[in-house]
Amino acid sequence: MTVRNILKMGDPRLLRVAQPVTEFDSDALHLLITDLLDTMQAANGAGLAAPQIGVDLQVVIFGSGEFNPRYPDAPVVPRTVLCNPVITPMGEAEEEGWEGCLSVPGLRAVVPRWQRIRYTGFDQYGDAIDRTVEGFHARVVQHECDHLIGKLYPMRVRDFTKFGFTEVLFPGLDAGQDD
Ligand code: NI
Repeated sequence: MTVRNILKMGDPRLLRVAQPVTEFDSDALHLLITDLLDTMQAANGAGLAAPQIGVDLQVVIFGSGEFNPRYPDAPVVPRTVLCNPVITPMGEAEEEGWEGCLSVPGLRAVVPRWQRIRYTGFDQYGDAIDRTVEGFHARVVQHECDHLIGKLYPMRVRDFTKFGFTEVLFPGLDAGQDD
């Protein structure tokens, strides 16, 4: 079990466009995914991208598969390892929702995202993933994949009156938690 340090906004490594995975089912890739899972679980995150632990690869993990105290009302998203993702919006509809990020601790904002997307890519063994999803699942995927093109959610905020500190916006929520 290795809980890695999560980079915070301001670190230039969060602004890179990540490199594609070229070798699947390798020891190095399995180790990376174990570290991502351990780190995400330790932080009670809904997702984590390799660049957030300083690894310049197109790898994200997301989903809980179980109750997540940070998102008590969120529908369950299957735990997924996604490499080299491609996102295609399905339709024009957008949806606003609150987001936080382990790289932007203590803050939340309303972020517009595509309501419905198709995403494709590969798991750690090189098996293809092809899903069409909507709502919270679609939001999590868009947030995590943004990390692979150097985008943090504050860069997507349009209404800065809905951007603030979690403890002020949602008093009592996540007491003692950084994000
Ligand atoms: Ni994030």
